[in-house]
Amino acid sequence: MVSKELESAINKQINAEFWSAYLYLSMSAHFANKGLPGFANWFNVQFREEQDHALKLMNYLISKGNRVELTPIEKVDTQWNSVLHAFEVTLDHERVVTSLINSLVSIARRENDYATENMLQWFVSEQVEEEETAQGMIDSLKLIGDNGFGLYTMDKELSQRSYTPLNSEQA
Ligand code: FEO
Repeated sequence: MVSKELESAINKQINAEFWSAYLYLSMSAHFANKGLPGFANWFNVQFREEQDHALKLMNYLISKGNRVELTPIEKVDTQWNSVLHAFEVTLDHERVVTSLINSLVSIARRENDYATENMLQWFVSEQVEEEETAQGMIDSLKLIGDNGFGLYTMDKELSQRSYTPLNSEQA
């Protein structure tokens, strides 16, 4: 079992991951409405990955004989001024998630809970990737500027992103 403190902190993280999923689903709907199906697809894949993050944490608590407590998900924004704005919000949010994961690691370390720390290392690596990806999108969008054809081309490229579920070792 993990301690009550870690159980509570992981349950909060589950809620944060579902909130992330909800945020990206809202972005996906927004860009679908705006006639940018590639960006909508990209955020839809992101939505599904965030659900996997929540499920991974839920599965871990269950495997340790701890309680999962799902709590209400706060509302998310429904509009963004531009795709650049949405990715800036994404990067800011992922930085917050990184700090939440780091806090979880700190608790696990303080408690000498090596199994939980080991499980959390997957999230530490994932957050490096999440921030790098969001930063890369921001860089590309800044290069494109207000070039409509550039945005059209990027939208086409992002329509290729496909969802890959976590494998049995990762889930
Ligand atoms: Fe689950 Fe995007 O962090």
